Amino acid sequence: MPRAKIAALGYYVPENVVTNDDLAQRMDTSDAWIQERSGIKMRRYFTPGKDTVANMGANAARMALERAGMDASEIEFIVFATLNPDYMFPGSGVLLQRELGLNAQAIPALDIRTQCTGFIYGLSIADQFIKTGMYKNVLVVGSEIHSSGLDFSDEGRDVTVLFGDGAGAAILQATEEEGRGILSTHLHADGEHAERLAVLKPSGHEPRHITHEMIDDRGIYPVMNGRYVFKFAVEKFPAVIMEALKTNGMEPSDLDLVVPHQANLRISEAVRHVLQLPEEKVFNNIQKYGNTTAASIPIALNEAWEKGLVKDGDLICLAAFGSGFTWGSALIRW
Ligand code: UT7
Repeated sequence: MPRAKIAALGYYVPENVVTNDDLAQRMDTSDAWIQERSGIKMRRYFTPGKDTVANMGANAARMALERAGMDASEIEFIVFATLNPDYMFPGSGVLLQRELGLNAQAIPALDIRTQCTGFIYGLSIADQFIKTGMYKNVLVVGSEIHSSGLDFSDEGRDVTVLFGDGAGAAILQATEEEGRGILSTHLHADGEHAERLAVLKPSGHEPRHITHEMIDDRGIYPVMNGRYVFKFAVEKFPAVIMEALKTNGMEPSDLDLVVPHQANLRISEAVRHVLQLPEEKVFNNIQKYGNTTAASIPIALNEAWEKGLVKDGDLICLAAFGSGFTWGSALIRW
């Protein structure tokens, strides 16, 4: 049976760097608070008129295609993860398909809505299609523009300081090599907590989808019970990593690198302590980009790879937790 390997990675971050001090000029926050509570030093914000969710994803995809030595026309299936699509509908997957010039081939484009866990769900979906032999080359993209939807008043400061914009992409390819590629993926969700981290309006179940009141009441901005989310995250991250290791008969000490979704440096550190891993085995770049939800793992994995921390034969675990709640992991023999 074929299995899927990550043939190449790419990423794109907008050029506009926004520091904690920049945010402190717009709301009641400080560089010291943000760094102490989250580890974040800066993030990128998109440039209106230049960056879109789809074209940022396409930029990341083009880098991955070039590194794989592939032409876009070789892609057979697109999986697009975002919580901020360009339009309410259609999803950004078809926009990315058009951007890459793949519309004439009419290849399928699937949008998925699993927030911070979007890239892990995307990898798992691609893995299943490759294992069944249906496709040989699948493009998985995570792309997010958060900055246009954040609340820059003092009321929104707890959420706003955490998030940034960016995109990452991976090309998944069929391989017959035994013991290489994606060894397993593990997906979970618990809808009980759906409203603990969410954007609740505009809403399909309100009498009118969007009203002036929703905007005036700030109902259109993300809400998050930070402490509640934090508590779940530090429990579910290690659990889902252990699930992946156990499934494959492995231990934390077998891991060469963990690339967690970049939600909070304190969460990554807590996970590292539970798994008793040395500092160099958990990769973090939240300091530079903040939380880019579905884009965070491919951007981080890409940087880790560029730094030479992801080498042939290495055992890599990707793990995520986020809104839904959703969580998941992927264990990969590179
Ligand atoms: O991608 C996955 C989804 N997201 C997450 O995983 C986020 C999980 N949660 C967290 O990362 C943390 O809970 C936060 C970073 C959001 C907050 O850190 P915390 O240590 O849990 O702080 P807190 O919410 O308990 O707030 C502590 C204080 C409060 O003031 P009082 O009540 O102690 O006077 C807040 O009002 O910090 C205040 N505060 C801020 N102060 C300055 C909240 N946000 C800010 C801010 N700047 N941006």
